[in-house]
Amino acid sequence: MQNVHVVVLAAGKGTRMKSALPKVLHSIGGQPLIEHVLRAASRLQPTSISIVIGHAAESVRARLSGHPDLRFVVQEPQLGTAHALMQTERLFAGASGTLLMLSGDVPLLSAASLSRLIAVHHEAAASLTLLTAVVDQPHGYGRIVRSGDGQVTKIVEERDAAPDERAIREINAGVYAFALEPLFEALRSVASQNAQGEYYLTDLVAIYRRQRRAIGTLRLNDPIEIIGINSRAELAEVGGIVRQRTNAALMAAGVTLMDPASAYIDPDVQIGVDTVIHPNVYLEGRTQVGSGCEIHAGTRIVDSTIGDRVVVLNYTMITESTVAADVRLGPFAHLRPGSSVAESAHIGNFVELKKTTLGRGSKASHLTYLGDATIGEGVNVGAGTITCNYDGVHKHPTIVEDGAFIGSDSQLVAPVRIGKGAYVAAGSSIVEDVPSGSLGIARGRQTNVEGWVERKRAARTRKAAEPGSDSAAPPKR
Ligand code: UD1
Ligand code: CA
Repeated sequence: MQNVHVVVLAAGKGTRMKSALPKVLHSIGGQPLIEHVLRAASRLQPTSISIVIGHAAESVRARLSGHPDLRFVVQEPQLGTAHALMQTERLFAGASGTLLMLSGDVPLLSAASLSRLIAVHHEAAASLTLLTAVVDQPHGYGRIVRSGDGQVTKIVEERDAAPDERAIREINAGVYAFALEPLFEALRSVASQNAQGEYYLTDLVAIYRRQRRAIGTLRLNDPIEIIGINSRAELAEVGGIVRQRTNAALMAAGVTLMDPASAYIDPDVQIGVDTVIHPNVYLEGRTQVGSGCEIHAGTRIVDSTIGDRVVVLNYTMITESTVAADVRLGPFAHLRPGSSVAESAHIGNFVELKKTTLGRGSKASHLTYLGDATIGEGVNVGAGTITCNYDGVHKHPTIVEDGAFIGSDSQLVAPVRIGKGAYVAAGSSIVEDVPSGSLGIARGRQTNVEGWVERKRAARTRKAAEPGSDSAAPPKR
């Protein structure tokens, strides 16, 4: 959009959150509130996007490092919304056009509604166009006061409102389109005589009214879009709305959610058709799940890619990893970052992978740790196999070539290589490479002491019969 400048206010502390974290960094749908607002703003392709930061400015700035074109303005101290907007004046010296102001704590606003607001604003050639909605519970919001002819005369904040004003159910969304020319001059005349002693941006309405400037409104039919987050309860409410929308879209696209109320799926997650998601599953971040998969209860998958027809059994955790088609995982499997499991492989219970590649059709079925390992195709990793990849200072690689067989309860002390088709005998501590086609066996030799049990028993009986011993007691076992 030509000549549209977006300003997002995000300097407030969010006192009502009772949090050490600045309010706009609290998350819904896996993204901080401010990120939702910036996404909607970016979709408009405005001329510029600026953000006013203040409370915990550096942590907000750091969290937004992924937005290279964002202009930051610091408001210090934070004296109210009018004061916050005032801080952007120098960015717009000599500029004309429209300033679209958004609040960092109103995360559900759609780009479509913002476009409509700007269109209405331009059509009416207004100095200010407000976004409003009529709600059942106006508590906490500024109320839109209109005269008999329907013109907006002022906005009154809840704390400053008279009882009849509090009864008004049309609320201010805190989102405005301003004509740039008169804006900053008018902001200078905002005073702070109100219940909070702050400079309220909303006072601009009464000021413009006195100046006989055109004030327009766009009343949204769906008031959900303008919910502002001021408390943890509102955070949970909006988080629930985002989840419901995500789940509804997934189901409409052919995904089965056995219990949508307990499916925690972030908005950017993609899932193929006919995949079945059991209760209490968490799919987060940029996760992609193929089609025809079955994801069982208690599983959490973060920033990972899962192929088609994969079965993930209960309580499996997968982070920053790739799983190819037809793999079976879990229950209780753990894929840590940098792991990759090829087609038709099998990872069973209590198996942990870290930075490990498991080749096509390979199996690690029970109680195993594979770290910094490259495992070829068709390898059998026996129960209780451990790669000893860490010497206390450095991590070392383990390589197991195609078709190798690692007997149960073996330790592979890295760096080490098990050659193609080689065998490792069960219970081995392998410290040297095993060449392909060989058997590596590295364990204490077994000796059987013949007649040991009988001799032991006889010795106990003799001892019990000695004078002074308590002969009534049966021999201890
Ligand atoms: C504000 C509006 C209210 C509206 C509501 C909608 C005012 C005076 N009131 O109230 O009419 O119904 O939003 O959600 O504008 N901020 C700063 N610097 C400051 C103060 C606030 O950057 O000095 C930022 C906050 O970080 C927040 C936004 O401005 O992102 C709104 O501030 P907040 O204190 O939440 O205003 P509300 O009381 O919700
Ligand atoms: Ca607010």
